[in-house]
Amino acid sequence: MTAQELREKYIEFFKTKGHVQIQGRSLIPDNDPTVLFTTAGMHPLVPYLLGEAHPAGKRLVNYQKCIRTGDIDSVGDAGHLTFFEMLGNWSLGDYFKEDAIEMSFEFLTSPQWLGIPLEKLGVTVFKGEGDIPRDDESASVWKRLGIPENRIAYLPREDNWWGPAGTTGPCGPDSEMFYYVGDAPCGPDCKPGCSCGKWLEIWNDVFMQYNKKADGSYEPLTRTCVDTGMGIERTVTILNGQKSVYDTEIFLPLRAAVERAASYRYGEDPEKDRSVRIICDHVRSSVFILGDPKAVSPSNLGAGYVLRRLIRRAVRHGRKLGMAGETFSSAAEVVIEQSGGPYPELLENRAYIIEELDKEERKFMETLKKGEHEFEKLLPNLLKDPRKIMPGRLAFKLYDTYGFPIELTEELAAENGMTVNRAEFDEAFKKHQELSRAGSEQVFKGGLQDHGDAATRYHTATHLLHKALRIVLGDHVAQKGSNINSERMRFDFSHSAPMSGAEIERVEGIVNEQIRRDLPVSMEVMSLDEAKAAGAIALFGEKYESQVKVYTIGNSPSDYFSKEVCGGPHVERTGALGTFAIQKEQSSSAGVRRIRAVLTGRGLR
Ligand code: SER
Repeated sequence: MTAQELREKYIEFFKTKGHVQIQGRSLIPDNDPTVLFTTAGMHPLVPYLLGEAHPAGKRLVNYQKCIRTGDIDSVGDAGHLTFFEMLGNWSLGDYFKEDAIEMSFEFLTSPQWLGIPLEKLGVTVFKGEGDIPRDDESASVWKRLGIPENRIAYLPREDNWWGPAGTTGPCGPDSEMFYYVGDAPCGPDCKPGCSCGKWLEIWNDVFMQYNKKADGSYEPLTRTCVDTGMGIERTVTILNGQKSVYDTEIFLPLRAAVERAASYRYGEDPEKDRSVRIICDHVRSSVFILGDPKAVSPSNLGAGYVLRRLIRRAVRHGRKLGMAGETFSSAAEVVIEQSGGPYPELLENRAYIIEELDKEERKFMETLKKGEHEFEKLLPNLLKDPRKIMPGRLAFKLYDTYGFPIELTEELAAENGMTVNRAEFDEAFKKHQELSRAGSEQVFKGGLQDHGDAATRYHTATHLLHKALRIVLGDHVAQKGSNINSERMRFDFSHSAPMSGAEIERVEGIVNEQIRRDLPVSMEVMSLDEAKAAGAIALFGEKYESQVKVYTIGNSPSDYFSKEVCGGPHVERTGALGTFAIQKEQSSSAGVRRIRAVLTGRGLR
């Protein structure tokens, strides 16, 4: 059975049970600041689980794209994924335990639907804890349906309680359904959760009875609900008698694309196979994050940081396979083609997905080359330490000077039989943050070096800000004016809505990243048409001479961050700017926003 067939069957089954199909939502939750990604099908439904009436009624069904990064280090084994699809059915104050379990059982075992043999199934139910009693009701329904007592495991809260999706919200005891992936249970006491590890969870019925509040207390919900979630990838795996999600039709074309790009044949070397699987998972997640209507791009904050980490980790594993960079786009195309039916947003955002993926891959290859080279220079000395501990201050230096992520330093250290003194790294990191704050206070007290220099630095900062705004808010952003003095900059731009806190942070993050990269700023004189053809931003409505100056901030004419027609002057390298901070974002006039920002600290030079 294919993923598409499973999706269709599930939706059809629950329609026969009076459910209405609703659309899955964005991977970035709308109203939940406590998490970065949609982690389950119930997530977008939280307001309805808490009591609001849903326009589609009380019985709902859908498929939902989800990201969970908690287990990112286990990705690469047979079953863990960062991106997965979840099928779900919900009762909003309608049916409860008995009906929910009966429907799950029928869908799983009826030959008309999945037809899973009864002897392959086992379930878990909540054991009871504190004031909440054992869930005997669920257990007796399972038994009545034919699940023998020895296949019902009673497990504690850490196993059989679900939610909330973030830190607050609806939650309750659950009952999970498992498939035995061996030939037969390992012995008379073999139950789901058994140490033989052969039980694979495929579905979860959650009985929403409580709302967890911010103070950690649980209040009973006046209206009980059901939330269920079936993992598509895992279910397709067991239905086809396979052992790993990566062997299913969901992953095979993607895996083949990675194998082609790496000129490697899967199955030849277990370590390399693991790298292939990690690349498959991470590329697939990245495609879905980039292709989401909320258009996240790689950055140093929030969801953008997770995306960056996924791409960068894939690059690292690509290198283990001898891939030389810019090689993920063919794999990404496979994901877009394959999932474009159920997720048309991937087709709509194809160009953006590929461009951002390529860009991040290229950028990181550079960082890696530099960072690994430095690590290798340190290695002979590090290996002399009999305890095999890499000092945190050296790991920090790699981070601070080359942008080399601590996670990767830790991986490199591990590959060489060492650990990193993480506490020392964290301390150096904190101290650095405090120093830069102290530095900014100094600057405020003492004034900047001289007005001319300061203004020049702000001038370059406007170019970085302009580009960062276009990345975060979209290409409709155009500079409407700017005003610079030695102490601050003001920048007006077209955009109709106030920026959110997260957008402001992302813009700051992007600007500061370009500063940290210490990019060269170069100038060329050309005609306005040539400038436009080269991709330079020119200010709308400005009058230009026939020959204009184009300032490029970046490593080369093709690999740059910003290119703008401008009279200058500018600094030579972005490292001179120090730290960029947005102080205020407000309305300037209709459709125009105004940002006030400052540069603090002395920068690299
Ligand atoms: N929310 C539950 C889960 O994620 C059921 O969908 O397991």
